[in-house]
Amino acid sequence: MRTRSAAAGLATVLATVLATLAACSGPSAPSDATLSGAALYARYCLACHQADGSAREGLRPALAGSALVTGPVEPLARWVMYGVRDGGPVPRRYPAVMPAYAGLSDEALAQILTHVRSYFGNHAPAVRAEDVARVRAAGGAHAG
Ligand code: HEC
Repeated sequence: MRTRSAAAGLATVLATVLATLAACSGPSAPSDATLSGAALYARYCLACHQADGSAREGLRPALAGSALVTGPVEPLARWVMYGVRDGGPVPRRYPAVMPAYAGLSDEALAQILTHVRSYFGNHAPAVRAEDVARVRAAGGAHAG
């Protein structure tokens, strides 16, 4: 009798823990597929490039008005997919490294690139998932 109620008590505790875990990982972590370009930028880029895409003197360049951001898609997509680090495909110019984002989906990358090309006063055409897929297929990417 005693053992059974102890087991029942344990089951209740476990159920509560599982329900709490499910609640935590649910709404607080939406998948990339449900997020807009602006929200994806906030998730992956904002910490370094800030809300306004401005430069940090001696640390990183501005995305606002950047020729790389508003120019042809391929170099921009390569940059963000491969990141910047010593020995990587994109040569480093600043003391800090930029992470590689090849782990994101073509769709998420297209959303982010479209966002940075049409925000911060930039006016470059949208990027499609197919464009990202083509750059990815061209190879050379290691998630870093
Ligand atoms: C940990 C900080 C960090 C994060 C996060 C980050 N970057 Fe960067 N980014 C850098 C640094 C540092 C550079 C300059 C690297 C260099 O040239 O040596 C840079 C440069 C760039 C450039 C080149 C701009 C130019 O005109 O030269 C682009 C484009 C860019 N980042 C886009 C992004 C995007 C899009 C994201 C999010 C998916 C992102 N970055 C996330 C640190 C970061």
